[in-house]
Amino acid sequence: MDTLIFDTHAHYDDEAFDGDRETLLASLKAGGIGWAVNACASVDGFSRALALGEKYPFIYNAIGVHPDDADRMTPETLEEIRRLCDREKTVAVGEIGLDYYWHKEKEEHLRQQEMFRAQMEIAREKRLPFMIHSRDAASDTLEIVREYMAGGMYGGIIHCFSYSREIAREYLNMGLFLGIGGVVTFKNARRLKEVVEYAPLSQLVLETDCPYLAPVPFRGKRNSSLYLPLVAEAIAELKKITPEEVVTATTRNAKTLLNLV
Ligand code: NI
Repeated sequence: MDTLIFDTHAHYDDEAFDGDRETLLASLKAGGIGWAVNACASVDGFSRALALGEKYPFIYNAIGVHPDDADRMTPETLEEIRRLCDREKTVAVGEIGLDYYWHKEKEEHLRQQEMFRAQMEIAREKRLPFMIHSRDAASDTLEIVREYMAGGMYGGIIHCFSYSREIAREYLNMGLFLGIGGVVTFKNARRLKEVVEYAPLSQLVLETDCPYLAPVPFRGKRNSSLYLPLVAEAIAELKKITPEEVVTATTRNAKTLLNLV
């Protein structure tokens, strides 16, 4: 493969990598992986995530707080996100969004929505694309994204896209990208396979969400960017093109969206 793969969503600051992080990251290039965006998740993960971007030229940062931590966010957290968005290696605001799978209370949903909006505001203000996590919250997520897109945003990725083709169409029509990872290789992922068949290649990006969601045959094991060729192959099969075409297009898409060209 003459083009390297761009992993748009990884969590290399996760403790699952504590034992061999350096060795693993040093092996990415030889494994065909050119770049990775390390997405922040928790309110106390900023410094670990930033250190990776500082140490490795091929690692970029997405700065934001996952909906799981919405209730731990303060006005100071938002100020810090705002400040960290000015750093050179910050390429996106994320991962942000809504998760009603792990959080069922109405009150929690409202808090998540408030923090999601606040971080979309920062993405707009800093002219950065956003990276969205959305689980069991299809209509509320769509409504908020629509509202922000109508007011002017700088693009975004719906990370680990897991909804129907109808919802995909809404995001694609807004010019947004769908992040596709290991799930597309799962036997029972019929709905996602339909989405991948349907979506134009020009609006797909590759991602791992590692250490989670390793593709078949590593399902259930620790994931890493090194398994992304399996995801590219699965997409290629669905779209009846070559894995090289998938890699070339998705890398170009990622670089364009993240302003790295
Ligand atoms: Ni993630």
